[in-house]
Amino acid sequence: MLFVGMVGCWLLGALLCAAWLARRIRDSRRVDGVDDKWVLVTGCDSGFGSLAARQLDRLGFRVVAACLTEGGASALRAAATPRLRTVLLDVTDGASIDRAVDFIRGEAGEGGLWGLVNNAGRSIPIGPTEWMRLEDFTKVLDVNLIGLIDVTLRFLPLLKKSRGRVVNVASILGRLSLTGGGYCISKWGVESFSDSLRRDMQHFGVKVSIVEPGFFKTAVTNLDSIQDDLQRLWDRLPSEVRESYGATYLEEYLKAQKFSMSALCSSDISKVSWCMVHALTAMFPRTRYGAGWDAKLFWIPLSYMPSLLTDFILNAMLPSPKGC
Ligand SMILES: NC(=O)c1ccc[n+]([C@@H]2O[C@H](COP(=O)([O-])OP(=O)(O)OC[C@H]3O[C@@H](n4cnc5c(N)ncnc54)[C@H](OP(=O)(O)O)[C@@H]3O)[C@@H](O)[C@H]2O)c1
Repeated sequence: MLFVGMVGCWLLGALLCAAWLARRIRDSRRVDGVDDKWVLVTGCDSGFGSLAARQLDRLGFRVVAACLTEGGASALRAAATPRLRTVLLDVTDGASIDRAVDFIRGEAGEGGLWGLVNNAGRSIPIGPTEWMRLEDFTKVLDVNLIGLIDVTLRFLPLLKKSRGRVVNVASILGRLSLTGGGYCISKWGVESFSDSLRRDMQHFGVKVSIVEPGFFKTAVTNLDSIQDDLQRLWDRLPSEVRESYGATYLEEYLKAQKFSMSALCSSDISKVSWCMVHALTAMFPRTRYGAGWDAKLFWIPLSYMPSLLTDFILNAMLPSPKGC
């Protein structure tokens, strides 16, 4: 009996090693001819987008980095090779997306667009749901979800031409709703849109990947902006709502948030840009990329747990309103 158990363990170990090795080999196979491939990355003024654009540029891709501001665009051009091109793109503005489509159609011609990295995003306002107004949700949804869908739809004809790739930046908050406001809703929407897009586009040879980062130190996780905005939401609440939370609630909420963000946020944002680069260069891109130790070891496993357990853990991370 003991012998059978040992053989079983050995076989299981061998199977796991073989699966790991097969995945490594599959992951390491690369596409050729990157110097003829055009790639558009949105939200390149800072953070993941800026780093990914510079890395793809160094690898030899024809990178078009879409920035929201001219300042962001000129800083990026200064840090890249002369091959990298920039366009000004606000993902909430259809005319601005059309200008980017025309620019790439003119530059890439018959070759089409190889890669679209939908990275642009914003996080605030985030906080307790009751503190929000409808426009607080739409501000975020317009950029993170509707903007991403609009950009994708307008670029699809060029992506089909090259049988290219779409890389959508979601978040672990697209699996677990940690906070109220539009952010988590938008990222759940990105997951769902990407899943249907992947299935619809596989017939045309267009591959779709989703990147699910954990917490990283960038402008979207900047504590000062998040906390200033929470103060703004708190200050405009009717007094009876504020009283239902208790006078010290905001202070305790900010303290808890500061503690968890400083424990969780990684400054190595290359873990995220690696996923984007892999999805564009690998012969077999993954459907989902978890980025960061917190995503892989904590948030993604937690997202599969029963709600009773996730609610208990997530509630323990924030204070309770007075008397609750
Ligand atoms: N940092 C994290 O922990 C984390 C985790 C999971 C997912 N994400 C996602 O990763 C993506 C990149 O964020 P990041 O962390 O690198 O933060 P970031 O540095 O703030 O990058 C977001 C970029 O999007 C741009 N942007 C904002 N509104 C836009 C609009 N309407 N049109 C076009 N561009 C717009 C921003 O421009 P400005 O700088 O000029 O505002 C900025 O360049 C976002 O989708 C974010 O939700 C981040």
